[in-house]
Amino acid sequence: MQKQLNDHEALLKAMKHGVLLVNRTHQVVFFNQVAAAVLELEVYKRKLPERLVDLIEKAFIEKETVEGELETRISGEKFFFQVSVQPLHLPNSDKAKEKQGASVLVELHEITRLHRLENLRREFVANVSHELKTPITSIKAAVETLQDGAVHDQVNMPRFLEIISRQSDRLNTIIEDLLSLSRLENEGNRVLLTTGSIAKVIQEAANTCTIKAKQKNIEILTKAPASLNVKMNAALVEQAIVNLIDNAVKYSEKGTKIQIIAQQTKNEVEISVHDQGHGIAEEHHARIFERFYRVDKARSRSAGGSGLGLSIVKHIAQVHGGRALVQSVLGKGSTFTLILPAG
Ligand SMILES: Nc1ncnc2c1ncn2[C@@H]1O[C@H](COP(=O)(O)OP(=O)(O)OP(=O)(O)O)[C@@H](O)[C@H]1O
Ligand SMILES: [Mg+2]
Repeated sequence: MQKQLNDHEALLKAMKHGVLLVNRTHQVVFFNQVAAAVLELEVYKRKLPERLVDLIEKAFIEKETVEGELETRISGEKFFFQVSVQPLHLPNSDKAKEKQGASVLVELHEITRLHRLENLRREFVANVSHELKTPITSIKAAVETLQDGAVHDQVNMPRFLEIISRQSDRLNTIIEDLLSLSRLENEGNRVLLTTGSIAKVIQEAANTCTIKAKQKNIEILTKAPASLNVKMNAALVEQAIVNLIDNAVKYSEKGTKIQIIAQQTKNEVEISVHDQGHGIAEEHHARIFERFYRVDKARSRSAGGSGLGLSIVKHIAQVHGGRALVQSVLGKGSTFTLILPAG
């Protein structure tokens, strides 16, 4: 009997989930280590959280298993648990004894990570909907104005068509960017990496951005040793550098310069894009690579931005086992650096 008891205790100790036995007067008859840690039972003299007491009471009244969620703080940090409260039916016991000895088995399963993912997903859906709603609202308004008669107004009609065209392009960009991100996430570990010249990729990226840069009289200078090789997916790295140059052009004044420098450091290659633009205050540095994060929403939107460019850069760096960094001082320009493994 003692051996069996020891075995049971060892089993309960080893369990990854919290388990406790609670009687009809809500007293904890038994608990394992996890339950003690979760509910800080020793600290609070076995007083249970109100939410848990409610679930326990419900299980006693309904005489069936009750499920619920519990939010609790452990050492100041928030945790979430899936709770299951199951009434125990003791066999061969008479009514009086059953009533007196009735108890419920409480199980606690941690779901904090699931909760966090769920919140991220919710936030993401809210952001996407909001971003799509803005251009759609403009398109709808322009179409309605045309239907209300502006279609016959030779002076104003081209203006409304222009709005429709520009906002459809914007919708297209957002959707293209979201698809790139989702491809990077889904196929990230299957991206083909080959050794190739970074100078060539930088040149291609710079060429893609020249027209936009010329419109603002911005000069793009590149400096990369021809022999410098990187283990990369050239198309993706080019896209990342284009995104960085595109920002440098967008967020700089006319007549400034952009410099792209590639150099080897130990077994990595650093590709930095320097600009003499508006710069970014330090408080935004930590969040700048998040999806849809924009320092100045109005300015970014009017420049046609969706706030996804840098999160694509970050993901591209990650599928290469690399990283992306920002250094910037407000009013003094920015340097974005892509760090990739050398080839
Ligand atoms: N070189 C830069 N100088 C100043 N601010 C920048 C620079 N690069 C990025 N930012 C800031 O970071 C924000 C996020 O950049 P990101 O490239 O992700 O989005 P975007 O440029 O607004 O839109 P998208 O790139 O999707 O068209 C920008 O809105 C801008 O506020
Ligand atoms: Mg951008």
